[in-house]
Amino acid sequence: MQADPTLQAQLDHWRDLPRVQQPNWRDPEALRCAVDELAASPPLVFAGEADRLRELMAAAGRGEAFVLQGGDCAESFAANTADHIRRKVETILQMAVVLTYGASLPVVKVGRMAGQYAKPRSADTEVRDGVELPAFRGDAVNGHEFTPESRIPDPHRLLRAYHASASALNLIRAFTYGGFADLRRVHEWNKGFMRNPSYSRYEVLAAEIDRAVRFMGAAGVDFDAIRTVEFYAAHEALLLDYERALTRIDSRTGHAYDCSAHFLWIGERTRQLDGAHVDLLSHVRNPIGVKLGPTATPADVRALADRLNPRGEEGRLTFISRMGADRIRDSLPPLLEAARDHGVPITWICDPMHGNTIVSGSGYKTRRFSTVLDEARGFFEAHDAAGTNPGGLHVELTGDDVTEVLGGAEDLDDDHLADRYETLVDPRLNHQQALEMAFAVAEMLRD
Ligand code: PEP
Ligand code: CO
Repeated sequence: MQADPTLQAQLDHWRDLPRVQQPNWRDPEALRCAVDELAASPPLVFAGEADRLRELMAAAGRGEAFVLQGGDCAESFAANTADHIRRKVETILQMAVVLTYGASLPVVKVGRMAGQYAKPRSADTEVRDGVELPAFRGDAVNGHEFTPESRIPDPHRLLRAYHASASALNLIRAFTYGGFADLRRVHEWNKGFMRNPSYSRYEVLAAEIDRAVRFMGAAGVDFDAIRTVEFYAAHEALLLDYERALTRIDSRTGHAYDCSAHFLWIGERTRQLDGAHVDLLSHVRNPIGVKLGPTATPADVRALADRLNPRGEEGRLTFISRMGADRIRDSLPPLLEAARDHGVPITWICDPMHGNTIVSGSGYKTRRFSTVLDEARGFFEAHDAAGTNPGGLHVELTGDDVTEVLGGAEDLDDDHLADRYETLVDPRLNHQQALEMAFAVAEMLRD
């Protein structure tokens, strides 16, 4: 199929629009070289996979599936190892089993993985001990180390981000197609988790899941036939040059897809209606998301829905609310009602992390487990009241035993944050807290 010149022009229209949160690349020639190389590199995902995920997101919007999106706030090149990737996939699969039971629905598994290398920042610079340097914007842009050299945006990092994403995706595909995701195996891992007496509160639910899995076996379910799971990749579409270079026109349909991931979202800081991010993603066919914080209005919801889902397709547009536990019960209902009355289908997902970031007494950027859970509870309550479907959960987590989020049944306190505080940007649920969250949300889904 001939490339459509109108579509090509649309895909570059963002270049004429206001854009925020872009790195100050100092060497335009180096940027051009990197972008040209990306544009000539193979896609990371295929159009057909993105289409399939759009159908699954549509099911979640109709209340026929539940989405679990999880992974690091900011992935790092250093942590892009087999062990870290495996533990993150394991954690998401374990959570998914619990949520499948709680929701009595299929769970759509999406990693904030294989591409989550760019971060929006509230300030352009960071000051430490009187020294001011450019802020860290993710490994795709500059280094985390607090030195002038490391903080210079380096376009070559875009290529490293692409290759790191490719190798992570390759491993994720191998894990999820190769029997690693076998339900019996994932269930055994969860039984290991339940042996910890801190989680005895969830004993009854865990016993029910165990009985359900045994029932499936007794009833003759062919576990070998369900050894593979579909696992999708998502990240914030922040770096316009990167996302544009990986946007391809599908030869089969003539539509454009951002082939850097299956699902892309626009962040709270870049969702301006007349801005570059909204424009670029308006022209691709992937399922996409937009974060909505407490300042979002019903008018914003209607305008974003019209702009990003003009054909009113189910599964195309997800709103990821991130209100803060103390505001969600007031801020979310008017948005749900506005979307419902406007009629453009929306899948609603709860990000209970980003509205609940605090600084601990000892100075760490952290979140309280109980507050995170409370936002999730408020999300379900709001949907109940509006008669809309709670479509899923978006969480920052890791498969490792880090100490970044306060509380949980093991009651991590401020004194312990320093033990393993490893995140590059926002605090993540550790492996245990992530599973505990799945049990707690599973209970909410059953209520
Ligand atoms: C994020 O998801 O890491 C993030 C920056 O979120 P938000 O755009 O909602 O602040
Ligand atoms: Co974050």
